[in-house]
Amino acid sequence: MLKALLLENIHPHARTILTEAGFEVVTRSGALDEDELIEALDGVHMLGIRSKTQVSARALEHAPDLLTVGAFCIGTNQIDLRAAASHGIAAFNAPFSNTRSVVELAISEIIALTRRLVDFDRQMHAGVWNKSASGAHEVRGRTLGIVGYGNIGTQLSVLAENLGMSVVFYDTAEKLALGNARRMHSLDELLEAADVVTLHVDGRSGNAGLFGAKQFARMREGAIFLNLSRGFVVDYPALQEAITSGHVAGAAVDVFAHELRGLPNVILTPHTGGSTEEAQEAIGQFVAHKVRDYLTTGSTTLSVNVPNLALDQAPDVHRLAYLHRNVPGVLAAVNATLAEHGVNIEGQLLATRGELGYVVTDAGSLVDEAAVTALRDRPESVRLRLLS
Ligand SMILES: NC(=O)c1ccc[n+]([C@@H]2O[C@H](COP(=O)([O-])OP(=O)(O)OC[C@H]3O[C@@H](n4cnc5c(N)ncnc54)[C@H](O)[C@@H]3O)[C@@H](O)[C@H]2O)c1
Repeated sequence: MLKALLLENIHPHARTILTEAGFEVVTRSGALDEDELIEALDGVHMLGIRSKTQVSARALEHAPDLLTVGAFCIGTNQIDLRAAASHGIAAFNAPFSNTRSVVELAISEIIALTRRLVDFDRQMHAGVWNKSASGAHEVRGRTLGIVGYGNIGTQLSVLAENLGMSVVFYDTAEKLALGNARRMHSLDELLEAADVVTLHVDGRSGNAGLFGAKQFARMREGAIFLNLSRGFVVDYPALQEAITSGHVAGAAVDVFAHELRGLPNVILTPHTGGSTEEAQEAIGQFVAHKVRDYLTTGSTTLSVNVPNLALDQAPDVHRLAYLHRNVPGVLAAVNATLAEHGVNIEGQLLATRGELGYVVTDAGSLVDEAAVTALRDRPESVRLRLLS
């Protein structure tokens, strides 16, 4: 029986999915340090973590039974993905299970800031009745500028148009414009067109300091600014300056920016854009399905470190899932070995990713132990599994 170890309070749906698939599941509430992890991984085939447990090369080296790691979160920096791939351990995450949660927070903040809700709320709590329409606007008819038109940016584009906003976007990659959204050819072009500017770029290192004094100055007078992506893309002292001078009329950031504390019409949240009960549940289901499918069918769709192959459950065949070093001749060797052992091939798929290749072969008859050993002993072999 395959054994799964789930750490860090992963959503209970994951346990249900893996138990129903026939795995023995052990759960632990906290994260583990490296030595604790090595000890806990003894006899474990599937490890589930969130962001706190570091899965180092050393831990992976000491886990000979481990076949897959599920990161029940968005990021995978806590896993040594290269080391995992070199041991034939497939890693999965949930890249878009919290997208909707981030988009809903962005929408709520765009409306709140455009209506100056934060200021009215603060004043009322201080006993000040300030009934004024000055500086408060509808979002209908205003222009939203989305920087980074990926999972979050595109979904925000659709919902914002449904609120009656015009959408412009800028992305460094070629992207399909959804609905009536218009692509801008430069960040400056977007900044000049938008009443609300919202950042949804990814965390590549080149995006450090993407938005600073020059960009704030380019924004329209009285425009609103949001950053729900990564903290390091924005120069916060420059944003503080832009708000204090009144050039930027409001801002929302989902990171702790000390400089913005106490400023008018500013919303600060502790990186909770993707933190909803719905997102946690969706992440639990998504990753549990990915690791379950990998263990039962060999499917590696959306794995972040091994070649991707989409595979269904194959009845009436014996499936050989072979991760190997990506060198010439492996496919021929697999087929020659199977032929030598009288095994007929019903279907075969190959994918490669960098230094790794993955060939999945459906055989019409049982693959005998000698054939499996012959392939496992090949110098380019990384991990071979027989799935029936
Ligand atoms: N606040 C939260 O809790 C929370 C939750 C989930 C994701 N995020 C963050 O939100 C961001 C977006 O997530 P996603 O899933 O939409 O990512 P994604 O990878 O799907 O999209 C990012 C897009 O930004 C574009 N891009 C990268 N650099 C750019 C640049 N300099 N100028 C213009 N476009 C650029 C990319 O081409 C891509 O289309 C990420 O940084 C992610 O870490 C935050």
